[in-house]
Amino acid sequence: MRSALLGFALSSLSLSGVKAGFPTKIYGVNLGSWLLIEPWMLPAEWLAMGGQECRDCSKCIASEFAFAKAFPNTVDATFNDHWNTWFTQSDVDQFVDLGLNTVRIPLGYWIVEDIVDRNTEFYPRGGLAQLRRGLQQLSAAGIVAVLDHHALPGVQSPQQQFAGRCTTNVQFYTPFNYHRALIWTAVMAGLSHVDSAFSNVVAIEAINEPLMDANQTPGYGDFQKNFVLVVRAVEYLLGMPVPSLNLEAKTDVNANVTEALGLATELPPIFPDEVRSVISEANPILTKLGVNIPLAEFFNFSIQSQADPLITNFMDINWQHNNPANPADAALGPQIYDNHLYYSFGGVADPNEDAYLTHSCNLDRIEADAALGNSPLYFGEWALPTQFQATDAFLRKWADAQKRAYSKDAGWIFWNFKIEISTKAGDLARQWSYLEGVKRGYLTKDPSQLIDPHVCDSYVQSAAATA
Ligand SMILES: *[C@@H]1O[C@H](CO)[C@@H](O)[C@H](O)[C@H]1NC(C)=O
Ligand SMILES: *[C@@H]1O[C@H](CO)[C@@H](O)[C@H](O)[C@H]1NC(C)=O
Repeated sequence: MRSALLGFALSSLSLSGVKAGFPTKIYGVNLGSWLLIEPWMLPAEWLAMGGQECRDCSKCIASEFAFAKAFPNTVDATFNDHWNTWFTQSDVDQFVDLGLNTVRIPLGYWIVEDIVDRNTEFYPRGGLAQLRRGLQQLSAAGIVAVLDHHALPGVQSPQQQFAGRCTTNVQFYTPFNYHRALIWTAVMAGLSHVDSAFSNVVAIEAINEPLMDANQTPGYGDFQKNFVLVVRAVEYLLGMPVPSLNLEAKTDVNANVTEALGLATELPPIFPDEVRSVISEANPILTKLGVNIPLAEFFNFSIQSQADPLITNFMDINWQHNNPANPADAALGPQIYDNHLYYSFGGVADPNEDAYLTHSCNLDRIEADAALGNSPLYFGEWALPTQFQATDAFLRKWADAQKRAYSKDAGWIFWNFKIEISTKAGDLARQWSYLEGVKRGYLTKDPSQLIDPHVCDSYVQSAAATA
């Protein structure tokens, strides 16, 4: 069924072939706070839903976890209303008008409901039906999607709403939670190939923003390798070749997913026991979805021989310091890397216009990543917030300078497609919302254009001038 994308994929093949499935240049937006709410982005709606705000987000109802724990009987319905209204067909229509070709969809692990331990973990149910709805709307509009595992089991980052639970108790980097994240991956890879609603899914991102200190993420390198092996094992069992492992397509694949993935124990020796057990545990979850959704094609699927493999996706190596594992070492087949760049949290450039423009105009992250094999690279999160009061004129220039830098390789995905417009939110949308940025003229109506192609002329320093 991925062959539905074939014409698109072929026309967008880069020379190395690694970007099969992505447009030649990614111009995209994140669907943030849709299936994974970060209350700061919709402060009035969050309070209206029954949420709270507080200085320390672990101390009140300021995350999905805290909400679901506080309102066990109504959380699913309340969130379903949010899912129905935050991202709609009208948004998709605007994306088309604005020439956007890609979305990154932040997801929590709990969208695969069977991996949640309901005794200790609290999250809404029903997100998968909404994800299928959204993917179908995007697909009809010719927009491809990255499934971004944004909030991981056990929590991957402390005190962050984006991790689904605000807590200092970070438990993702443990065998048990790596294992659950891999089951999530197997389920998403299976759906991506066999559920026609997922036909525009081109990539799965292993983890959003792991801790930056590699000393605090033991086992992350093995997780990267297993993540790729899980995706390729699912593809192999479903009848696709894995050229990077010299595995030709199996000829005897049973068209029933349950039967096909049931052969995990007979995978070639290159697949470690962890990968076999992950697929064995993902199989009944997928089978249940096939029966309950229901997906008749699950039990009579056909994979085209020319189907594109999924593109595996990681945050780039330079996201971490202290001798991190290199995700390039995990690649088997097409892989793409993701870097995020926000200036407003400090540590990037001095808080003034010139420093911001100088930094953006001389950005060397693409080159630094490529030197370590992390190529192609896209900038999967960026926006316009500043540490100083920014004028309209500055935001126009700086948006140009950032787009100019990020377009030099695979492209960019803005955070976020929208932000709540309300008295409570104030002017938050001005610097964080793509749709608002276009409306106010900071961002061009055609994402491939700049307001001023010469924006960097007086900022580019000679060493970077040729980059
Ligand atoms: C798919 O295979 C499973 C496991 O053998 C079996 O229980 C199920 O009935 C099959 N489904 C169909 C529709 O044939
Ligand atoms: C299975 O799918 C094929 C087409 O791929 C179709 O011809 C056949 O009737 C289907 N079988 C069942 C039992 O639905």
